[in-house]
Amino acid sequence: MGKKKDTSLSFAIVLREGDEMIGVTSTRNIDHRQGTAVGGILIGRKDLWGTGVGTEATMLSLYYAFTTLNLRKVCSSVYAFNERSIAYQKKCGFREEGRLIRQHRHEFDWVDEILLAVFAEDFQPLWEKFAKDLPE
Ligand SMILES: CC(C)(COP(=O)(O)OP(=O)(O)OC[C@H]1O[C@@H](n2cnc3c(N)ncnc32)[C@H](O)[C@@H]1OP(=O)(O)O)[C@@H](O)C(=O)NCCC(=O)NCCS
Repeated sequence: MGKKKDTSLSFAIVLREGDEMIGVTSTRNIDHRQGTAVGGILIGRKDLWGTGVGTEATMLSLYYAFTTLNLRKVCSSVYAFNERSIAYQKKCGFREEGRLIRQHRHEFDWVDEILLAVFAEDFQPLWEKFAKDLPE
C-alpha cells in the first residue's frame, strides 16, 4: 500500500507453478472522485519477458481496477523506445493520448514520453475474450 491511505495498491505477480514471485503491478494515484488511476508493472525475471506474463498480469490488475475499485479510466506512460511495453499495453486496450516531446534524458539522448490510457468500456470486451482462456 502507498503512504496515503487508499491511493495506491500493488499486486505481486506469482508463477502458477512454484509460487515464485516474478514481478509486481501497481495502481497508483487512485482518485475515486474522478474514477482514475495510474497503472504500472515490472517483471523482474528478464527471461520471462515476451512470454505473455506482462499482458496477463496487467489484464488481471485492470480487471480489479474497473470492477472492485469501480474506476473508469487507467492511465500510464512509457518511454517512446520501449516498443515491447507499448505493444503489450495496446493488447490490454490502452490507446495513445499524447506525447511529451524530448521529456527525459536517456543515456546520451532526449526521449519522448508517450501517454496512454484505457477506459473501462474498451477493456470490457477484451476481458471477456481473455477470461475465456484463463485456466480454472
Ligand atoms: C514491459 C513488460 C511488463 C511487458 O511484459 P512481457 O511479459 O514482456 O509482455 P508480453 O509478452 O505480455 O507482451 C509483449 C508484446 O510485445 C511484443 N514485443 C516484444 N518485443 C517487441 C518489440 N521490440 N517491438 C514491438 N513489439 C514487441 C511481443 O511480441 C508481445 O506481443 P504478442 O504477444 O502479440 O506477440 C516487461 O517486459 C517488463 O517488465 N519490462 C521492464 C519494465 C518495463 O519496461 N515496464 C513498463 C514501463 S511503462
